[in-house]
Amino acid sequence: MRTYQLQSGAGIGALVQTDLASRPLGPRDVRVRMRAAALNARDLAFARGAFYNPPSHPIVPLVDGCGEVVEIGDEVTRFVVGERVITNYYPRWIDGTITPAKTAVSFGAQLDGTLAEELVTDQEGLVRAPASLDDRAAATLSCAGLTAWHALFGVATLQPGATVLLLGTGGVSIWALQLASAAGLFPIITSSQDDKLERAVSLGARATVNYRSTPEWQKEVIGLTHGLGADLVVEVGGEGTLARSLQASRAGGTVVVIGRVSGGGGVSIEPGALIGGAKRLTGITTGSRAMLEDLVRFVDSAAITPAIDKVFGFGEARDAYDYVAHGQHFGKTVIDFSQ
Ligand SMILES: NC(=O)c1ccc[n+]([C@@H]2O[C@H](COP(=O)([O-])OP(=O)(O)OC[C@H]3O[C@@H](n4cnc5c(N)ncnc54)[C@H](OP(=O)(O)O)[C@@H]3O)[C@@H](O)[C@H]2O)c1
Repeated sequence: MRTYQLQSGAGIGALVQTDLASRPLGPRDVRVRMRAAALNARDLAFARGAFYNPPSHPIVPLVDGCGEVVEIGDEVTRFVVGERVITNYYPRWIDGTITPAKTAVSFGAQLDGTLAEELVTDQEGLVRAPASLDDRAAATLSCAGLTAWHALFGVATLQPGATVLLLGTGGVSIWALQLASAAGLFPIITSSQDDKLERAVSLGARATVNYRSTPEWQKEVIGLTHGLGADLVVEVGGEGTLARSLQASRAGGTVVVIGRVSGGGGVSIEPGALIGGAKRLTGITTGSRAMLEDLVRFVDSAAITPAIDKVFGFGEARDAYDYVAHGQHFGKTVIDFSQ
């Protein structure tokens, strides 16, 4: 089978296509013929050597993917041949509270991932794909989609009409925009580019702020929310945005810390920034399989089609990495194995 391999820390240039023999199946294993995969910021971090607990040997990269079950082990009960499946980001986090053991390994980081014609995994590492989505769209749920779902619906209890602030127009934020819009929330989104903000409006953004031309964007958000601030902030910015995100959140509101697209350095936060307004600051890491199954159900029932910015063929995987690395994308970047 055709596959790619990458050594953590070796850089995007070290991504190589190669042929490997198919792996034999264990009794609880499923063989999936992969049809599409998608990229996330964490895949660039893996290439740079900035992702946690990397193996010392090259592995198949990427975690997001959709494919078809082509063979099952003798003891497999969750799937039958012919079903369409997507990956469960943390194959050992089935449900319940997070623990280090549940999140010790993920596809495309410590385990072989989805950028290969075949994925062999224990049946627990897969979820049925949304029936309403094609393979490309279904390939975007496992990381960005699940993280957005967890942030919006797993951390806080938001009433319809609640205001959510989304930062930038990358994969997580655009997924969060589409979910928030479908759920009757009031999404405000920022971007460095006005054309991206226009695209965000077409996907349901109710208000927009250009964080480049309005460096004090948190004040704009407070103004847009009648002086109150957002009920929830999906904080993907890190170093350059966290303090402002806290200011932009309302009294009693929540800031969900997810990423650091603007840098991962230290942030100085006054205790008073949390105490006075009784604000909540909490981190999350993707989510459990139970959350992913809830997301699949919502995507089907609300007829959400995730925004895909650009599609690359299997032979163009390195171009796909370069495209995401340049940061010009809007939403998701996908690799279609049929191209
Ligand atoms: N905790 C978790 O489980 C988890 C899961 C997924 C992702 N993450 C992390 O979350 C972050 C986002 O991931 P992603 O896959 O969505 O990344 P992405 O698609 O690469 O997002 C890139 C976008 O971030 C925006 N951005 C850059 N600097 C910004 C700033 N100063 N303020 C606001 N927006 C800014 C830009 O939007 P514009 O072009 O519109 O300006 C850019 O296009 C990453 O750090 C990633 O590692 C964490």
